[in-house]
Amino acid sequence: MKPTEIEGVFRKEDKIFTENLCKGIKVYNEKLIAYKDKEFRSWTPYRSKLAAAILKGINIKLNNDSKILYLGAATGTTVSHVSDIVKNGIVYAVENSPVAVNDLIKLSKKRHNVIPILEDAFHSYRYSSLVPSVDFIYQDISQRNQAEIFNENIARYLKKGGTGLLMVKARNIDVSLKPKQAYDLVCSQLKDYRLKIVKTIDLHPYEKDHAAIIIST
Ligand SMILES: C[S@@+](CC[C@H](N)C(=O)[O-])C[C@H]1O[C@@H](n2cnc3c(N)ncnc32)[C@H](O)[C@@H]1O
Repeated sequence: MKPTEIEGVFRKEDKIFTENLCKGIKVYNEKLIAYKDKEFRSWTPYRSKLAAAILKGINIKLNNDSKILYLGAATGTTVSHVSDIVKNGIVYAVENSPVAVNDLIKLSKKRHNVIPILEDAFHSYRYSSLVPSVDFIYQDISQRNQAEIFNENIARYLKKGGTGLLMVKARNIDVSLKPKQAYDLVCSQLKDYRLKIVKTIDLHPYEKDHAAIIIST
């Protein structure tokens, strides 16, 4: 088990792992591996776009005390790995489906650093009493107006010098466009908001017609 360039993410052969914050407990039936008094959870790129982006070479700065705003948390698959990475930090997990938030609440009972928030990320002001300024914003909500939602949350919550990562599903932008054209369209919308695009990474072969767009402030 070897550390990668991303603090808190480990690699063994062609697979990546995070160190389990809650020893012995699985979140979504992932594999647990014991190594030198520690336990690691396998992180599959077929279940998590963040894992896919990491395996495709994304380089993001996360520390064990980073504060993350996570938009589109679903039932917590990827949130749980981010929670492993930012052990002493916090993951503010926003999700608008009450059913999914029930699972997030269960997750947060075991993981002290996960704060579930049942809200629509489009109304970013609604969670301003819960969320401080953060180091990193991750968004995976597959909506047509996702660039606008991303920009609103960045303007309100991202620290100067922070990083944003937007997951884009081409088909949700415009079915008539080729994937690359859809990613370019989102990039131009982000530029119109004066966000600085650092890199766009196609998530093929792990996720068909998806890309990760990194921005910096
Ligand atoms: C693709 S899934 C996220 C998967 C998750 N990021 C993971 O890797 O485990 C998208 C989620 O975003 C949520 N969502 C969609 N629109 C939203 C919005 N406006 N605000 C908050 N959550 C939203 C959906 O309910 C869904 O659970």
